[in-house]
Amino acid sequence: MKSSDIRKEFCNYYSKHGHQKLSSSGLVPENDPTLLFANAGMNQFKDIFTGKQKPAFNRAVTIQKCVRAGGKHNDLENVGFTARHHTFFEMLGNFSFGDYFKEEAIVYAWDVLTKLFKIDTSRLYFTTHYSDTDAALLWKKLGVQENRIFQKGDKDNFWEMGEFGPCGPCSEIYYDHGEQYAIKNFKPGPGQDILDDDQRYVEIWNLVFMQYEKKPEGRFDLPKPSIDTGAGLERIASVLQGKYWNYDTDLFMPIISQTEELVSKKYDSPLATSFRVIADHIRSATMLITDGVIPSNEGRGYVLRRILRRAIRHFNSLGKTDPSLYKLVPTVFKILGEEYPQNLSNISLAEKLIKIEEEKFLTTLQIGLKFFEDALTVNPKGLSGKEIFKLYDTYGFPTDLTEILCKERSLSFDAPGFEKLMQERKDESRKTWKAVGQIDLEEYYKIRDLTGETQFCGYGSLKSESQLKFSKHVEDDLYMLIFDNTPFYAESGGQVGDVGSVVDLKTMQEIGTIIDTQKPIDNLFVHYFRLNSSAKQLDINAKYGLVVRSDLRVLTARNHSATHLLQSALMNVLGDHVKQAGSIVTPDRLRFDFTHPQGLNADEIRKVEEIVNEQISNNLSVSAQIMQKKDAVAAGATALFGEKYGDEVRVLKMGDFSIELCGGTHITNTGDIGLFTIVSESSLASGVRRIEAVTSIGAYQYLKHRSELLKGIEQHYNTNQEAVLDRVLSSGHELRDLRKQYSDLLNHFNQLKFQSLFENPKISAKNEPYSIVTINDDIDLRKLSDTFFDRYNNGTVVIVKTIGDLFPVILRSKAANFDCNSCLKELFKISGGRGGGKKDMAQGSVPASKIEESINFLNNYISK
Ligand code: SER
Repeated sequence: MKSSDIRKEFCNYYSKHGHQKLSSSGLVPENDPTLLFANAGMNQFKDIFTGKQKPAFNRAVTIQKCVRAGGKHNDLENVGFTARHHTFFEMLGNFSFGDYFKEEAIVYAWDVLTKLFKIDTSRLYFTTHYSDTDAALLWKKLGVQENRIFQKGDKDNFWEMGEFGPCGPCSEIYYDHGEQYAIKNFKPGPGQDILDDDQRYVEIWNLVFMQYEKKPEGRFDLPKPSIDTGAGLERIASVLQGKYWNYDTDLFMPIISQTEELVSKKYDSPLATSFRVIADHIRSATMLITDGVIPSNEGRGYVLRRILRRAIRHFNSLGKTDPSLYKLVPTVFKILGEEYPQNLSNISLAEKLIKIEEEKFLTTLQIGLKFFEDALTVNPKGLSGKEIFKLYDTYGFPTDLTEILCKERSLSFDAPGFEKLMQERKDESRKTWKAVGQIDLEEYYKIRDLTGETQFCGYGSLKSESQLKFSKHVEDDLYMLIFDNTPFYAESGGQVGDVGSVVDLKTMQEIGTIIDTQKPIDNLFVHYFRLNSSAKQLDINAKYGLVVRSDLRVLTARNHSATHLLQSALMNVLGDHVKQAGSIVTPDRLRFDFTHPQGLNADEIRKVEEIVNEQISNNLSVSAQIMQKKDAVAAGATALFGEKYGDEVRVLKMGDFSIELCGGTHITNTGDIGLFTIVSESSLASGVRRIEAVTSIGAYQYLKHRSELLKGIEQHYNTNQEAVLDRVLSSGHELRDLRKQYSDLLNHFNQLKFQSLFENPKISAKNEPYSIVTINDDIDLRKLSDTFFDRYNNGTVVIVKTIGDLFPVILRSKAANFDCNSCLKELFKISGGRGGGKKDMAQGSVPASKIEESINFLNNYISK
């Protein structure tokens, strides 16, 4: 069965049994800062299992994109070496949200494996949790013999997604690949059974009986027992296609075949591991990038960068030294594109970013090898943990390569020292996505249960009468306030939170100011509020007037609308690969990060500015409309990169020029933006550029300031705007010419001055001329020493510059038996000092305090 048919048949089976087919969620988890990447089909249903969210369907079936690299479930290091581990894989899963439970889940799975996929039952084995007698009985009821069912403990048969979240006992289904794959002489150890021979028996499906939720404060029952199952598509495909290695199925072979062509080598041992690592890693890298992850040095981007580098290294070890990995991207999509069409629009971005990483890392590989060799000159015995870590972290040099290099030369490899530093690094990178802690998040959910959702009324109005639902003292005069409704925009999509004031509705007096508005979870608006010193504390359930600072809101709106124009203009000028990678919109400025492989030239920047200003002067009307997400995307709306959206989205249109999904606040006509100008364009990370710009009054002030500066320059040169650039350039040329003349004159002067310096050299025992001179001028010693050899075609010259505490010294010689480097080394034994060189020339410095001894030594040494 082709893998595309396995996907289809699996979904059809469950659809027929009342399950709704839902799309895979993205690899970057939405609304879950505790999770690095989507690692199981159940992730997107976490809040449904725990009862926080109502499901639209009681039964669902999905094919979920998963990445298990970094985080709790991490298979990165196994990839390439085992037949069945991957960084990216697809999980077939059926789910029941408080509908059916164990019995149906087991019957369905049995049906799918034995009837739909027609797997020979004599190949199947089952595990259950020791406390779960029901599951074992249910398998027996289906005809499974008792000796095929194994009971296991928490480690194997209790599934949890992460530290916290829904969890429960599980029952796993194993496939026996046959005796020929058994681990040699395998005997189950204490607490083990035959299934622990993980080369012969492979887990193909896991049925989780979701019953509990783990929270920081303990384990609680779920509102309703539920079902979460997951079967790895790659493993099922290997069974149904009669292969042992997942890599030999149609999910990987097209990539492996193309790699064979690229490197002109066969997928065969001993090279097979490299082919497999490449095939696995290019799938995860492609899917991660097209889901919004950009290679970087922290968090998710760091994991992606490691995956890419490992793949590049394996390409390199297959003898390919120019960028090649990126060429596999289209093949990845031949295999995955049909199931994940949402990733397709970012293909060219994936190719570009992977190529950039390759170009950079291929150089790194050279530099890393050099660092490796240099480290060994200091300590020839091996590498310290610090050096291994530096190679890994600074040079991006894969540790397995360092280890192999050490092994090949029987050098020591300080793995524990490295691990310690690595752990510190991991903790650091974890912090970057765990900034909003699980505990805080839990607290916000509780608060929202109490207050209800906040209604946002700030698109149409900047004032409201709102009831205070919650207040918490933060520090001094600072409070967190939550109202039933609010006109205050909470920071999101890059737009800063609104500021403004709270008014007593009776007296109409201001009682304090709102200094920021945040939205830690959906539909909960938290106002950070400073109470005026004269005002009394706010009363829960009382009504207050909320007033947004309209001057700041309008400036922000102009910048936000200009950001949309900028994005479209960049796509027009640079191409469709431009994707938003971050943005900040404040009243003062806008900052837009986007994917593009190189810096913009002046012409491109001017074009982008021109287009934006043209659309401003076109006075396009700006409209917002709520639509179904799929309709919006079909209408061509640009979904912000890495952002999350519900099924209903707000679509923001500016004439026919720009259409984007956006929840922000905007002006009503592009003409309101007035003026737009780019202040800077720079590199943020490889493949990511950053533009900062200003609009309206800010743009006027910026340009005014620059024109004042220009006026100053005009006055200085006493000329007008048209001629001033020529004047500045010609002044520069004049200065350059004068500098050259000055240096020629100085050289000439020095030649005259030092003409006599080498006039009367001494004669050595070997009858050759030599001079040892000291000078007190700051001139080039090398050039000066040339004048000695202008006069003599053999002999030796030493010049010491007597300036500073360490006197620079040069030795040059054409004498047959004289070695400048040895002479200098001997000198240092007497005087101390540093330096070195070769037989014909050596340079260094000697301490000023030792000058007399040094000169005497040199005279003595050279004369002989
Ligand atoms: N969540 C379970 C797993 O990942 C079953 O889908 O194994």
